[in-house]
Amino acid sequence: MRHIAVTVNGTRHEADVEPRTLLVYFLRETLGLTGTNVGCDTSTCGACTVLVGGASVKSCTMLAVQADGEEITTIEGMAQDGELHPLQKAFHEHHGLQCGYCTPGMIMASDSLIREAPGPLTEPDVRIGLEGNLCRCTGYHNIVKAVLAASEEMRAGSANR
Ligand code: FES
Ligand code: FES
Repeated sequence: MRHIAVTVNGTRHEADVEPRTLLVYFLRETLGLTGTNVGCDTSTCGACTVLVGGASVKSCTMLAVQADGEEITTIEGMAQDGELHPLQKAFHEHHGLQCGYCTPGMIMASDSLIREAPGPLTEPDVRIGLEGNLCRCTGYHNIVKAVLAASEEMRAGSANR
């Protein structure tokens, strides 16, 4: 076993983990944060996407021990003070989900895509930026609309700060 300490959604956690434990299983099974989904376990679908140090990472591609000392954000950490994150609101308003299985991963990947973009996102930017996230319900059209809407709101919000 290896001892690790991580900060997840602003809360510090320490735990002993097996070296083979994937980050996604640490989040789901040790910390009980089941909003992060497992779709494939083979780095194909993006359902397990979280932010590690602010960058989107497929948490089935990372060992929990590799996350030692990191700041991690999961879908449970996106709403603040009872207010949904602009991406969560936009997915709701634009019907960017059907079964919802891919949604947490889509939102986490979109958050880093929007924050890392040098300027306003275009539709091709979103489609290319999210190509590592699969929606088995094939709801891509509304997902793209939601991300574009959230991108505008997030950029306007940061310009007003
Ligand atoms: S479960 Fe991680 S990419 Fe599919
Ligand atoms: S909404 Fe069902 S997998 Fe995307």
